[in-house]
Amino acid sequence: MSDNFFRFHDLFAQLGLPNSDEAIAAFIGRHRPLSNDMLLADAPFWDESQAQFIREKKLDDSPEWTQLIDQLSEALRETSDARNSLGFCRVLALSGSLRHSSFNTALAHAAQVMAPHGMVIEVATLHGVPLYDADLETSEGIPAAVLKLKAQILEADALLMVTPEYNNGVPGVFKNGIDWLSRADMKAIFAKRPTGMIGASMGGFGTLSSQAAWLPTLKMLGVTLYSGNSVLVSRAQNAFDAQGELTDESSRKNLNAYLAGFNEFVQLIKIAKLKSR
Ligand SMILES: Cc1cc2nc3c(=O)[nH]c(=O)nc-3n(C[C@H](O)[C@H](O)[C@H](O)COP(=O)(O)O)c2cc1C
Repeated sequence: MSDNFFRFHDLFAQLGLPNSDEAIAAFIGRHRPLSNDMLLADAPFWDESQAQFIREKKLDDSPEWTQLIDQLSEALRETSDARNSLGFCRVLALSGSLRHSSFNTALAHAAQVMAPHGMVIEVATLHGVPLYDADLETSEGIPAAVLKLKAQILEADALLMVTPEYNNGVPGVFKNGIDWLSRADMKAIFAKRPTGMIGASMGGFGTLSSQAAWLPTLKMLGVTLYSGNSVLVSRAQNAFDAQGELTDESSRKNLNAYLAGFNEFVQLIKIAKLKSR
């Protein structure tokens, strides 16, 4: 996909479309998935001349264009290859609260529902992770719940930490989970991993202090932190309804803007990675 992507520049230019890396990634994200029953030239997003160009090149069977057109078609379909391609990103949203009716887990679910086109968010929690104990690690190795989280993070393109705030700082449960993960393979799990942080608290500053308190740890882990927007859901008891739905309009607006920016951030990192291969 990497070489193809760069050659998409020529195809996009021919189609009269913006052809920067960002524009191509955004185009693919916006228009996928394209039904497998539909020919690329019949897709509703082309104007007449673009559709005609695609049909003509396919008919000519000119290898240069046919290959690119087929590759663009593949990138727009819902296949596992396409899922790994640009225009699509997977995010693991990890809630730092174990509470059944946790506002932070509810915030992670709100993000899942509001994820922009091209972004899929899976929600995970820290249930089953024991307290870190070096003796336990020596005798039994990394616990199963930690290994499961490790696999989920490695599967994803990005990590979204959803943090509560305890006593103006990082909640012990969450820090404990991250500490275990750092023992499971800090470099593979965290180094250069696109990472976002959002949070909800019952106080008036909506996890401002805990998000700040996370920074030294995130630096140590070596994540690539998204800092374009903030989601600080304050007075969380008033921001969610009884079903855990985020109903506060300004929080929804912030989350929406955050996810749009985070999506672009993750896509750009994917592009940079492909370029460096
Ligand atoms: C030990 C403890 C300390 C807390 N400290 C803060 C705090 O510093 N700031 C704040 O806004 N809320 C604080 N809270 C309230 C939390 O915001 C509230 O319990 C919230 O529901 C926790 O997130 P959760 O709903 O995802 O579990 C604290 C709660 C506990 C249990």
